[in-house]
Amino acid sequence: MAGAGDTVSVRFKLYALTVMTINAAGYILLLRYTRTVDGPMYFSTTTVVMTEVFKLLSSICMLFSMHRSLSATVTDIYRNVFCNPMDSFKMCIPSIIYMVQNNLAFVALSNLDAGTYQVTYQLKIISTALFSVILLRKQISVIQWISLVTLFAGVACVQLQPDSFTKKVEHVNYTVGLISILSACLCSGFAGVYFEKVLKGSDTSLWIRNIQMYLFGIVSGLIGVYTKDFFGVIEKGFFYGYTPYVWAIVVAGSVGGLYTSVVVKYTDNIIKGFSTTISIILSTLMSVYLFGKEITVLFSLGAGLVILAIFLYGMPARKPPPSASDSKASGKLAQTV
Ligand code: C5P
Repeated sequence: MAGAGDTVSVRFKLYALTVMTINAAGYILLLRYTRTVDGPMYFSTTTVVMTEVFKLLSSICMLFSMHRSLSATVTDIYRNVFCNPMDSFKMCIPSIIYMVQNNLAFVALSNLDAGTYQVTYQLKIISTALFSVILLRKQISVIQWISLVTLFAGVACVQLQPDSFTKKVEHVNYTVGLISILSACLCSGFAGVYFEKVLKGSDTSLWIRNIQMYLFGIVSGLIGVYTKDFFGVIEKGFFYGYTPYVWAIVVAGSVGGLYTSVVVKYTDNIIKGFSTTISIILSTLMSVYLFGKEITVLFSLGAGLVILAIFLYGMPARKPPPSASDSKASGKLAQTV
């Protein structure tokens, strides 16, 4: 991965976006599988904590690879994380929200089929745009709003498979599942945009910001274990039910989180939404090529809507003239896509 502060090529951005998206697809499948398979059931709150631990260790390694010196790494962490508690504290907010979001994903996927989950979760495109307007004062024209709704409709169609909603999920509480996933969309929009605001509002490096956030993430994750699974963990142990698939969830969750942070640093949350969508289309097309899957009418319609959304988003607004940040965003979108 690129170090913080340096500019990166379009190819690197595409690489990070692709890894993030393919990894997310694998993560959902693994999570769904482990929550529905027979056998001892692990405590989902403990995997959230372990994911934060993995991300923290990886971020320290990335910082070390930037400094190429152990003492410089330790000094950087000491100065920016421990000697600057008020600045570190800013990362407490997104870490708590992400902790809630990551736990909600387990509740949602235990109560919904993967198709409903994936389609509904794309509403985060809209919540991200809303929070970008509120927190970053981003100007989004009417046409761009139409483009974002079109993008949501497009990606929803692309992800709809003929058998998406027919697979039965046992012990479901559909309402709980839907409320969880809608709340996760709000969390995703808010935490993503807040993280972007803090990251881009100072010179503090990405890896220091991540270390600050993951330290709080471990603490808030442990509070989650205490409030939800305390007695179970005391009785059966923290790692009860950890199969290789559960460890794979921890690794996939960590890779996804780290790549998300890189993508937000070098692009922005709205571009992340667009690019994720394109990667979803490309990965579906690849599975047509690799596994002989058929292209459905819905897929073609969805892909068409996504392309239309990209054109609409890049279209300059006539009145008022586009602000500097808008033209920059459109330029970035065109460059990234
Ligand atoms: O679905 P969404 O894109 O909002 O998910 C973002 C994921 O990336 C969350 O699981 C969050 O914990 C993770 N993340 C991270 N480090 C960041 C920003 C997000 O691990 N700096």
